[in-house]
Amino acid sequence: MPGGPTRSDLAAMQGGGFYNRHSAMQATGIAALLSLWEAACRTVDIGDGPVTIVDYGCSQGRNSMIPMRKAVDVLRSRVGATTPIEIIHTDLPSNDFSSLFEALISDPNSYMAGTSDVFPLAIGKSYFSPLLPPGRVHLGWSTWALQWMSTNAIDAPDHILAGMSKSPAVVAAVAAQQASDWECFLTQRSREMRPGAKLVLGFTARAEADTGWEWLLGELWSAVEEMRRDGLLSEREQEQMTIPIGLRSLEDIKDPFRQSGSFVDLALEHLDLVKVSNPFWPEFEVSGDGLTFARHHANATRAWSGPLIASVAPRSREQTAFVDELFSRFEHRLSKEPRPHEPYMAAVVLSKKDH
Ligand SMILES: C[S@@+](CC[C@H](N)C(=O)[O-])C[C@H]1O[C@@H](n2cnc3c(N)ncnc32)[C@H](O)[C@@H]1O
Repeated sequence: MPGGPTRSDLAAMQGGGFYNRHSAMQATGIAALLSLWEAACRTVDIGDGPVTIVDYGCSQGRNSMIPMRKAVDVLRSRVGATTPIEIIHTDLPSNDFSSLFEALISDPNSYMAGTSDVFPLAIGKSYFSPLLPPGRVHLGWSTWALQWMSTNAIDAPDHILAGMSKSPAVVAAVAAQQASDWECFLTQRSREMRPGAKLVLGFTARAEADTGWEWLLGELWSAVEEMRRDGLLSEREQEQMTIPIGLRSLEDIKDPFRQSGSFVDLALEHLDLVKVSNPFWPEFEVSGDGLTFARHHANATRAWSGPLIASVAPRSREQTAFVDELFSRFEHRLSKEPRPHEPYMAAVVLSKKDH
């Protein structure tokens, strides 16, 4: 008998298009990846037939429009006007795919607008399993997804994010899970990539000394602590409030490639760490409006963490009311002392050996 959903199956973003409306920070990181993506689209091996692009962890699609349009434009100049280009968006089964299909029709930046012979498709299945037949994919893209672990390795007693805990047991469990998830993802992708295919990835990661999430998620954890002090959850329930995200270092990302320079026929072509600038800070500097700044961040944080937090909310509370209360306290805390939130993103380019 298959079991019920695990915490990580519930990692999908807040539905009803909420993530689409509140993911400007992720869009800023994506802009920093576009030149690597464009170079991959220019240099990838393509034959005469249809071209296949896969967007792994697409969520509701808005942030995929600009990169996919870029890919279509570059590939059109290489393959001509009529070669079919298929774009396969993948995410967890619990993802809000309706908002993705809606965005393909009505988003002003939709890559479907003004293009022809471009075919969008979608798959609702974890990318830690096979998604496509072997050798099918020319180009793969994935942004802001690979920090999510395939399973909640362990609950953290001292932080809302598993990957920011200082407990040695949690640090070790997260590192082991992230290492095995990384190898699993690479193995699955390598099978479905064609010889000469390329994969461009951006996901939140850590520098030696920090992650860039200290202020924001420190305040979220403090809001959880406040609610525990006010009797809205027990100590045990507070500990269970753990988001299964881990932040890899560049060394962690390089690890599988260290011994022979390649891993499962994939070569690491590019790896660096980008500090993503804060899209709301310039507006705050002009207006000095801390409440609006805090609201942007509370909505943006709820967009990616709200469903997971609802799934671990105390059983004795109504889930939406609990999450509303938490994010209202979080927003209040953020408004008191606004700071630029600038997370790190690993930028990774991989290529499949051309036998
Ligand atoms: C923060 S969103 C990123 C969405 C979009 N790519 C962007 O850059 O804005 C992360 C997405 O990864 C998806 N995700 C997490 N774990 C996944 C898995 N194992 N398989 C497929 N998708 C996954 C989540 O459901 C979510 O939609």
